[in-house]
Amino acid sequence: MEKIDKILINAKDIKNRVAQMGALIQTDYAEKSPVVICVLKGAMVFYSDLVRQIDLPLIFDTISVSSYGAGTSSSGKINIIKDLDCDISGKDVIVVEDIIDSGLTMKTLTLTLKNRGAKSVKVCAFLDKPSGRRVDFKADYVGYQIGDEFVVGYGLDFDGKYRNLPYIGAISLDEGERE
Ligand code: IMP
Ligand code: MG
Repeated sequence: MEKIDKILINAKDIKNRVAQMGALIQTDYAEKSPVVICVLKGAMVFYSDLVRQIDLPLIFDTISVSSYGAGTSSSGKINIIKDLDCDISGKDVIVVEDIIDSGLTMKTLTLTLKNRGAKSVKVCAFLDKPSGRRVDFKADYVGYQIGDEFVVGYGLDFDGKYRNLPYIGAISLDEGERE
């Protein structure tokens, strides 16, 4: 059974950082009405905090993609499980993601959204794990860069659990639990 080893980022630091990120987006998108896409389910918690820090007429949408199974390593492909509801052609789009690891999910998804005719596509990720990259990808807004560890909380899960933790914690796995 896995256990939470340590708190990497506490709730107070998260709150401050998300406020900074929101302020930055508000400045960058002044006078605009971007479509802000929540990548389910991992980004739900971050998304709901972030959008309330942006005083602009945002349009909400959600998408669900899969690249991971129950374990902790990437399968290298994504499927759209639940697509957007709105037509994004000609729109400014901000994709809100929990964490970028291999980069495969965001590289593929942003390409898909550009191919649908979006005017612009930017990615806002709460966490970035550069050591995991398998393809070249850089997010436009990043909350924190972290090292090569598996984290949970603030929307992120291990095997569907721990999304509700109000902080980011690092998890330790017993031998054989990593895929
Ligand atoms: P990738 O960038 O395509 O490898 O996939 C990123 C996705 O992998 C994220 O949206 C998460 O769902 C998942 N992921 C990667 N690293 C972690 C982690 O440390 N904890 C929880 N989920 C993770
Ligand atoms: Mg995810």
